[in-house]
Amino acid sequence: ALPGRVTIWEVGARDGLQNEKTVVPVEVKAEFLDRLARAGLTTLEATSFVHPKWVPQLADAEDLLARLPRHDGVRYPVLVPNERGLDRALAAGVTHIAVFASATETFARRNLNSDLDAQFSLFEPVITRARAAGVDVRGYVSMCFGDPWEGVVAPEQVVSVGRRLRDLGCTQLSLGDTIGVATASSVERLLDTFTSGGVPVGELAVHFHDTYGQALANTLAALRRGVTTVDSSAGGLGGCPYAGSATGNLATEDLVWLLDGLGIAHGVDLDALVDTSVWLAGHLGRPSPSRVVRALAAR
Ligand code: HMG
Ligand code: MG
Repeated sequence: ALPGRVTIWEVGARDGLQNEKTVVPVEVKAEFLDRLARAGLTTLEATSFVHPKWVPQLADAEDLLARLPRHDGVRYPVLVPNERGLDRALAAGVTHIAVFASATETFARRNLNSDLDAQFSLFEPVITRARAAGVDVRGYVSMCFGDPWEGVVAPEQVVSVGRRLRDLGCTQLSLGDTIGVATASSVERLLDTFTSGGVPVGELAVHFHDTYGQALANTLAALRRGVTTVDSSAGGLGGCPYAGSATGNLATEDLVWLLDGLGIAHGVDLDALVDTSVWLAGHLGRPSPSRVVRALAAR
C-alpha cells in the first residue's frame, strides 16, 4: 500500500549548491530558501558546518543562517560532521542537524578523513550533545548501494552502519545512493534488510541521486515499501564533491509530479517551485536537468 502523505526533505541548498563550481552569493541562497518555503516545502536542508576548505561553496554557513527567512512550521536542518561543526551550528541557533556516515571504508576516508569504525567516534559526542540540547539528529548513510572504489555494497554492511547511528541516537536514517547506481530491486532488498533487522520503515528516508535515471523508479519502490520521507533537490541540483561520478539528486519537481499522479499529499505548489528552479538556473547559468521543470517552463 502507498502512503497517504509524504514529507519532502529538500536538499537543494545543501547537496545542490555544495557541488556548484562557483560559490553562489549568500543573498541568492537566502532568497532560494525563502522561495522554497513559500512554495510549501517545510524541511529545507540549508547548509553544512563542515571544514570551509573541504567545501568552500558552503563556507558562508553562519552568514546564511543569520539571514534565513522564518516561516511557521519550516525547519532548516544542517550537516554537522564533528564537534567543531556542532559548536558552530549551536552558536548559530540550529534546531535540527544531520551527521553523515559512510557505508564503505574508502568513502569514509575520502569524505570524512576518517575510517568506517572511527567515524562513529566523530559522531558519538555530536549526537549526544545535540540531543541533550534538544536538537534532533538525522543520520545519513552514504554509498548504500554501490561505491566508485569498492563496487557493489552489501545490504548487511549498510544496515550495520545504520543501526550504529540509530543506537547513538539518530531518530531518522537517510539511505543515500550517492552515485545513483541503485535500481528498484536493490532498493527493496535494502529496505527489507533494515526492517527484518528491526528498524521500522517509519524511521527510514531515501536519498537518490539520478546519475543513471533511476531515481523516480527507486522512489516508487521505496513508497511501495512504506517510506514516507523522500529527499530531493529543487531543479535536480546536486552531487558530492568527494564522489566523482555523482550527479544531481532526484529533482523535487519530478518527485512532486509522481506524487500528484499517485494521489499522495505533499503540500508543495509545483508552479511556484518550477519558477524558483528557473530563477536559480538563471543565476547558475545553465538550465535545470529536471524533465518536469523543462516541460512546465516551456508551456
Ligand atoms: P580534518 O582535516 O580531518 O579535520 O577534516 P581535523 O579534525 O583534523 O581538523 C583540522 C582543522 O580543521 C582544525 O583547525 C579544525 O578546527 C578545523 P586547526 O586546528 O588546524 O586550525 N575543523 C573545522 N573547521 C570548521 N568547521 C568544522 C571543522 N572541523 C575541523 N566542522 C572533516 C575532517 C570532517 C572536518 C572534513 O573531512 C570535512 O569537513 N568533510 C566534509 C565533507 C563534506 O561536506 N562532504 C559532502 C557532504 S556528504 C554528502 O554529500 C552525501 C549526502 O548527500 C548523502 C549521499 O548522497 O549519500 C549527505
Ligand atoms: Mg547526496
